[in-house]
Amino acid sequence: MPASTMKAVRQHAFGGPEVLRYEDAPIPELMSGEVLVRVRAIGVNPPDWYLRDGYRMLPPEWRPEVPFPVILGTDVSGVVAAVADDVAGFAIGDEVYSMVRFPSFGPSKAYAEYVSVPASEMAPKPAGIDHPHAAGAPMSLLTAWQFMIELGHDEPNPLQPNRHQPVPLAGKTVLVNGAAGGVGHFAVQIAKLKGADVIAVVSGKHESLLRDLGAADFIDYTKTPPEDVARDIDLVIDALGGPTTGRFLRTLKRGGALFPIFPLGFTDAGDAEKLGVTVSAT
Ligand SMILES: NC(=O)c1ccc[n+]([C@@H]2O[C@H](COP(=O)([O-])OP(=O)(O)OC[C@H]3O[C@@H](n4cnc5c(N)ncnc54)[C@H](OP(=O)(O)O)[C@@H]3O)[C@@H](O)[C@H]2O)c1
Repeated sequence: MPASTMKAVRQHAFGGPEVLRYEDAPIPELMSGEVLVRVRAIGVNPPDWYLRDGYRMLPPEWRPEVPFPVILGTDVSGVVAAVADDVAGFAIGDEVYSMVRFPSFGPSKAYAEYVSVPASEMAPKPAGIDHPHAAGAPMSLLTAWQFMIELGHDEPNPLQPNRHQPVPLAGKTVLVNGAAGGVGHFAVQIAKLKGADVIAVVSGKHESLLRDLGAADFIDYTKTPPEDVARDIDLVIDALGGPTTGRFLRTLKRGGALFPIFPLGFTDAGDAEKLGVTVSAT
């Protein structure tokens, strides 16, 4: 068992990156069902900075109470340092990765030397992937996977009455907006893996990366608005989402689907219905 103090990146108030402090913190206590992980790498995701600045992107009534000090971070890769007595299947020294406690409506606590992880939220790290790449995967890959392949839970989505349903991908044309980002570059690879033709919308500097990942076509959004040139698309994954996502309705076939990864702000449900387009989020 390690000593009782570790270094962590903590914050004692909401705000910009300047509120983050690299400082001493207690090593988390190991609870029943948990594994203590010595962190080798963390991944940074938008929900980290949503919490850092006090969830200002959420309607006020949805903002959870958060006790300070806060340790941000959900995505982690590391080595097992201790295992609770009731946990089977993990041993000290195992290399593991995880998306910890998300959504937790509070800090998930990964930006630290040690993090306690419910064993049910942990998996062995694939041997061929190093810690930084493993820590970059969980949230963005799970997000793309849940939108495109398998929802994996029965929790109701407060933003829509119906349960999200992935759509068939084989032989379809899929446009991914924000295709060089965390969620977007996984969406491109999943669509390609499942037999779709992929159009990637990215800034020009990412063209060769996206071609390497399997995109058949490419739109540089800094030069051409994708909604002006793309037509007859079966599925748009808008990894940017928000209030501008409705512009993609006109790029879709009747019967097509628009999946905004960040659905807050979408106001064109009436147009979607007229055009016969399904708009859905997880
Ligand atoms: N629903 C969920 O469970 C869930 C989970 C995770 C994330 N999200 C949401 O998904 C969104 C993306 O997250 P992420 O982790 O993928 O973010 P990210 O890694 O920061 O990627 C964002 C990408 O957006 C691109 N971009 C910026 N402006 C653009 C524009 N005008 N047109 C097209 N692309 C543009 C950038 O591409 P260039 O570099 O090419 O400029 C960047 O690569 C966030 O809003 C996040 O909150 C949702």
